[in-house]
Amino acid sequence: MKDKKLYINTIGCQMNVYDSDRIARVLAPVGYRMTDTLEAADLVIVNTCAIRAKAEQKAFSFIGRLAKMKRRNPDLLIGVGGCVAQQEGDAILSRMPHVDLVFGTHAIPRLPRIVGKVTSGRTRVVDVVASDEIDEIDLAGGFQSDGQVSRFVTIMQGCDNYCTYCVVPYVRGAEMSRHPDQILSEIQSLVRSGMREVTLLGQNVNSYGRKEGLPSFAALLEQVNDVEGLRRIRFTTSHPKDLSEDLMAAFGRLDKLCPHIHLPVQSGSDRVLKRMNRKYTRQIYLDRVERLRRIRPDIAVTSDFIVGFPGESTADFEDTLSLVETVAFDSIFAFMYSDREIAPASRFKTKIDENEKKDRLQKLLTTQEKITLAKNRMLVGTHQEIMVEGGSTRPGLAESLDEGPQWSGRTPGNKIVNFSLGGDADPAPPPRVGEMVDVSIEKAFSHSLRGGLVRRERSHDCSGREECHAA
Ligand code: 5AD
Ligand code: SF4
Repeated sequence: MKDKKLYINTIGCQMNVYDSDRIARVLAPVGYRMTDTLEAADLVIVNTCAIRAKAEQKAFSFIGRLAKMKRRNPDLLIGVGGCVAQQEGDAILSRMPHVDLVFGTHAIPRLPRIVGKVTSGRTRVVDVVASDEIDEIDLAGGFQSDGQVSRFVTIMQGCDNYCTYCVVPYVRGAEMSRHPDQILSEIQSLVRSGMREVTLLGQNVNSYGRKEGLPSFAALLEQVNDVEGLRRIRFTTSHPKDLSEDLMAAFGRLDKLCPHIHLPVQSGSDRVLKRMNRKYTRQIYLDRVERLRRIRPDIAVTSDFIVGFPGESTADFEDTLSLVETVAFDSIFAFMYSDREIAPASRFKTKIDENEKKDRLQKLLTTQEKITLAKNRMLVGTHQEIMVEGGSTRPGLAESLDEGPQWSGRTPGNKIVNFSLGGDADPAPPPRVGEMVDVSIEKAFSHSLRGGLVRRERSHDCSGREECHAA
């Protein structure tokens, strides 16, 4: 079978990054190999996101641009997947004659058949059939980490929370949890092929297993913590209303669980939280953060915010600013509210003017930036354990600092660190991707830290060598 080239454009969230991986995995046995070059592709898949209007526009503008490529190469296949595909279905085929296949969020396991149907019959196919079963993909060779040391693994699909601004429950469907055996076998298989850090994914991991009567999320974490060879566990996203005492306690107990929690609060105003249907109050949120910090004082707390939700008054927005000051998050994502037709908030009255939303967004980001910088500065002078993820991503950084090669990785609290060889560390061989090293933090910026390597991990390369500063 001649190899064909597959190019995937992933738009949006981490769930889509994971789904793009699954797309590549199910299409590999039918001859598709990934390419980074759009022009080289035989099949282009756009994995779309519907969470905010901007993400949807980005998808449509990219798909629009593919029309020209298709005119030049009529054999090129174009597929649209993800949440926009799930939501729009047939409408995409009628609006965009150059698209060959549209597949929803539950159709990934069926992709080989869908693509086969398109290539053999030259017909266009839409598959947006929803499913009330977990979409497990069957891989004969197990899961491969493909040289990546940090990977996502989905533990659940869908969401039952119906926050009034959000499309997810409509496009991803009802919440369903994967069986722990499936999750553990995927993680073990990834670890065997080189993964060292896993991020467990779900829209609301705190309610994992509840509907199905499976073990709780805290119990699942405990099992993942026992996987030999795995070094770090992260997870996202947590809903504050479901943050259990058990899960908070896990931060004090599990040695591989990184001290970081992404806990989206969305607003600091009780009135807005109620209209968002978030089911917690500002005080409940503050209490939970305090409890987490009591259990794990070094825990990094990050969050999501929406500004300009319909009816958000200036006083409501002031409440959000004061919550940001009170909690002192490590970092935040903030978004301007955008109407999603399918979500109830699109029919709420008193929409906020776009310029006002921009203004509020700017104020919120400026407030947080100072806090982030102050928090990062507190790490200067400390030693942090970093998992090497690669060379520094900032082009020209090494040259501009005149410090030779640069590496990058993350602290347990998920802060990006760029570091050079310094101090007493053995410079050769150079740090390997996946190696756990200690870095002395020398400088803090608002989006990253900089430091010097002080301690290498004992590895097969240097074991037994006196000069190896090993654990
Ligand atoms: N408008 C703006 N932001 C939104 N989010 C979800 N829906 C919307 C919307 N309609 C944000 C929330 C969520 C994050 C993933 O996206 O902050 O936590
Ligand atoms: Fe959307 Fe709310 Fe579910 Fe998160 S919890 S996916 S914001 S409905």
